[in-house]
Amino acid sequence: MNGVRIIGSGSAVPERVITNDELSQTIETSDEWIASRTGIRQRRVITPDQESLASLATIAGKAAIAMAGIEPKDLDLIILATSSPDDLFGSAAQVQFLLGAENAVAFDLSAACSGFVFGLVTASQFIRTGTYRNILLIGADVLSRWVDWRDRSTCILFGDGAGAVVLQASEQDQLLGFELRSDGKGNALLNLSHGASGYVPITMNGGEVYRFAVKSVPEVLDKALFRANLTVTDINWLILHQANQRILDSVQARMGFATEKVITNLSNYGNTSAASIPLALDESVRSHKIKPSDTIAIAGFGAGLSWGAAIFKWG
Ligand code: UT7
Repeated sequence: MNGVRIIGSGSAVPERVITNDELSQTIETSDEWIASRTGIRQRRVITPDQESLASLATIAGKAAIAMAGIEPKDLDLIILATSSPDDLFGSAAQVQFLLGAENAVAFDLSAACSGFVFGLVTASQFIRTGTYRNILLIGADVLSRWVDWRDRSTCILFGDGAGAVVLQASEQDQLLGFELRSDGKGNALLNLSHGASGYVPITMNGGEVYRFAVKSVPEVLDKALFRANLTVTDINWLILHQANQRILDSVQARMGFATEKVITNLSNYGNTSAASIPLALDESVRSHKIKPSDTIAIAGFGAGLSWGAAIFKWG
């Protein structure tokens, strides 16, 4: 029973919608510029006195637990992939409390927009070693807190959200292959760093991050496919970190994926960092686009630099 199955998903987004047109009232930009360069039309942003990282993560987690058909007390481990916790010491224990998952140990995992992929692989190791049976993995970020809303080169990109999956020990191992990478040389390209007067809002070299993504993502997807002994045609769905529609299109074209296999929802949510992959996964599962035993390729990329891919069968 040391195989891994992914048996439930859930997601949550804040109530408040900010459209491109609304942004263009406060900064020099337009819906046309944002949509044509990124594919983004709107994003969700938390209302601070009503919503938090932990509240979104908890809603997403509850939905994933319900779909999996287990109880919060059945969880052995909660991994919260986030780079924007409510508490820098970690928010996972707060989520554990809010879920009533009294038997679970909980910790944060920080790998920016690659957090969900890194978390999926980390969670799987605990199952494959026979240590834990039921694990909740949540990818959640509220980067709206860390964006300079006067900086048009970054603020148009990001949104808040949470997505979650439940992994369970099973006879069949449904995690078919993965590849994780880091390169600290590129750290300065995308930063939320601590300076003399505290944390500085997100800074980014957009062009360089773009070039990094379109080169590096196909490399890790190829490696993960090789490990899974599969080719592009064996994959039913490609879910990339939802950063920019042009990055998604470029990776799809370079690798020869059929366009209809690419799942995209970034027009509605923007770049939700660690939440973007599980949010897109959950929407596609709930709309019955993704069906049991479908083979899914995911890839995350972003700050660190960090990037990674995984191939798994759903359900
Ligand atoms: O999780 C990973 C997160 N990061 C990413 O995914 C970033 C990847 N990079 C990108 O998505 C793109 O580089 C951006 C969308 C950020 C920028 O697109 P770009 O085609 O690389 O534009 P650019 O930065 O080269 O800027 C082109 C022009 C500039 O004006 P000039 O110098 O040509 O006169 C910018 O000042 O567009 C201007 N500009 C804008 N104009 C209207 C930059 N931001 C905006 C804006 N509205 N929001």
